[in-house]
Amino acid sequence: MGGDMRTDALLSRYGYCSRREAAAWVKRGRVVYRGNAVKSPSDKVEPAEVLVDGEPVPFVNGLYVAFHKPLGCTCSHREEGELVYDLLPEMWMARNPGVNTVGRLDKETSGLLLLTDDGKFEHAMTSPRRHVPKVYEFTTSAPIPAEAVEIFAGGELLLQGEKSPCLPAELEITGECAGRLTLHEGRYHQVRRMLAAVGAPVETLCRVQIGPMRLAELGLAPGEWVEFDPKVFEK
Ligand code: URA
Repeated sequence: MGGDMRTDALLSRYGYCSRREAAAWVKRGRVVYRGNAVKSPSDKVEPAEVLVDGEPVPFVNGLYVAFHKPLGCTCSHREEGELVYDLLPEMWMARNPGVNTVGRLDKETSGLLLLTDDGKFEHAMTSPRRHVPKVYEFTTSAPIPAEAVEIFAGGELLLQGEKSPCLPAELEITGECAGRLTLHEGRYHQVRRMLAAVGAPVETLCRVQIGPMRLAELGLAPGEWVEFDPKVFEK
């Protein structure tokens, strides 16, 4: 047959059904490989050349998606309330390995969020050694003091409860109560805590860029997503 994946393994890997249910899918002729209906769940296939219900297998080489996270949903598989995963195709969640967010954004933060089923990519992107820059735009409920630029750039700001100071970060003040901050690490609630530390609590927060990828260039409205090539993050 020429492929290297069992048909039942393929159907469960990509979230169509369990391995047990695969026999019924095959029996009904729903799986076609190189123009012929697959006869047995154990038949080996090349995933890129399979059609299921007449459609190619989505994200056959791994799922890499850029999502415009709206406000009010949580980056978690478990928590109460609306989850980012509730806003995405259900079949993604049935894939095995499953789909996860690459890092997190707070419930009340919007903006660029990556999702993947590639654990190595997720790990590489979130590794503290990698320092992928992330850019946030924010507004505050009090004026941003001009000294914040130097304080953030100095690499000596110690946040409450932390053992090491924040890495140098670039702050651009764009209005009395508005700015853009570039971080090279990702600590819990970092943007909010850094701005609170200089007396300018964050009111709204949006991540606009991760490495070379800019939300504005992707043209995504909140709740929309697009596939990307992970090579854009290779150095
Ligand atoms: N910093 C925050 O405070 N919140 C986020 O969601 C991301 C960075």
